[in-house]
Amino acid sequence: MKELFEVDCAKCVKCGLCVADCAFGALRLDDLRSPVMAKPEACMKCQHCLAVCPTGAVTFDGTKPEECVPTEDLALPGFEEAVNWLRTRRSMRRFAKEDVDRGTLESILAALANAPTGCNARSLTFTCLSTRESMETFKRGFIKAIEDHRDGSKLLPRWLAVPAIRLRKGGSDMFFRDAPGMLVVSSDETNRVVTTPREDVAIACAHFEMLANAAGIATCWCGFLELVQREVPELLERTLGIRRETPFYAMLFGKAAVRYRRGVRRDAYAKIVFV
Ligand SMILES: Cc1cc2nc3c(=O)[nH]c(=O)nc-3n(C[C@H](O)[C@H](O)[C@H](O)COP(=O)(O)O)c2cc1C
Repeated sequence: MKELFEVDCAKCVKCGLCVADCAFGALRLDDLRSPVMAKPEACMKCQHCLAVCPTGAVTFDGTKPEECVPTEDLALPGFEEAVNWLRTRRSMRRFAKEDVDRGTLESILAALANAPTGCNARSLTFTCLSTRESMETFKRGFIKAIEDHRDGSKLLPRWLAVPAIRLRKGGSDMFFRDAPGMLVVSSDETNRVVTTPREDVAIACAHFEMLANAAGIATCWCGFLELVQREVPELLERTLGIRRETPFYAMLFGKAAVRYRRGVRRDAYAKIVFV
């Protein structure tokens, strides 16, 4: 049977780093100074023990050190590159009429599963509408759900009713910006381990933006979907099978149809308080 925490005694130098780095004291050193899993119920499976081990002696939940990316000499964006990205990233609202490469999306979503989640809950679902066809099908369901809601004599706010009619008539698409794809990140509300569902979802979306941009795919936050869901609570259940209580957020994506020539200057917009 696969153990949660395994130590290769031939490699372990008994430095105790894995025990010291364990956030909730799940590990301890035994009488011979070998690390052991003492309180598995306290383990949040963060894998810090596997990551910190200087000799690669720890296998965690079946994951061996040689299967993990070594941090030594790893190419990472420096501070300047990261700042440049943040200053020049843009919400794209004009997309090319072409699908995004499926393999690229798969690579992005696999990497995205590494985004941090509160208490390492790892309870996110990535629902990816990856083609223009799937977006059109979704939008038909979206309009139908809104119209059915209205026909049930529920009053719709003007900001929603008017653009929905426009979308149905094939006019401009305020909600989804004619994007050829959309990612909906949702958090499992039935999992009691999840302490920060809304934060987990937003953090994954922010990292999706970064990864997608790095892969040459433009993005736009789709706050409208969440706003519409508040008015039409059955919307996502009907269209994507995502239950009405489920926290979620959405990102539009696709190849850019416009190129921004420069970044913008917003460095002074946030109040910075050193205490
Ligand atoms: C949480 C959130 C929700 C947003 N929702 C939408 C949206 O529904 N539609 C849209 O066109 N832009 C949306 N935006 C994009 C913002 O309008 C945009 O980030 C802001 O105007 C700054 O422009 P920039 O992203 O190009 O820097 C959203 C942004 C955030 C952070």
